[in-house]
Amino acid sequence: AGNRTFTMIKPDAFEAGNSGAILKMIEEAGFKIVAMKATRLTPELAGKFYEVHKARPFYADLCNYMSSGPIIAAILEKDNAVEDFRTLIGATNPANAAEGTIRKIFAKSIEANAVHGSDSDENAKIEGDFYFSQLERVL
Ligand code: CMP
Repeated sequence: AGNRTFTMIKPDAFEAGNSGAILKMIEEAGFKIVAMKATRLTPELAGKFYEVHKARPFYADLCNYMSSGPIIAAILEKDNAVEDFRTLIGATNPANAAEGTIRKIFAKSIEANAVHGSDSDENAKIEGDFYFSQLERVL
């Protein structure tokens, strides 16, 4: 398994002032932050990032939501990063997320679910490249 994954702290968690607490949980779980920035998506950029979900009924809402405020984007490093990060964040729907997971603690709904985590090594690379230039991920 690859050693990097990609995450976003979504607008709900950023707006609520939970970015620091979430990054602390990420570091305490053994992930190293190898690239990070605060930024904001346009609806068009959100649409591009989530293009794989284009046919889903929630796609338009998701793109509006993800461009509704600032986010933090980061590349994280750890052995078995993709799978271990998905365990740390919990199920997409916070109602189904395990106790102690980031989404259980911070998510507001299935859409405003505090954080994103890549679902494969291949997508981790694509998503990291979407946000970060070579110079921004020299670590
Ligand atoms: P994420 O892990 O970023 O990947 C796709 C996102 O779409 C997901 O988190 C949620 O924010 C959103 N999403 C997934 N399923 C649904 C759904 N059934 N209804 C609304 N939003 C959803």
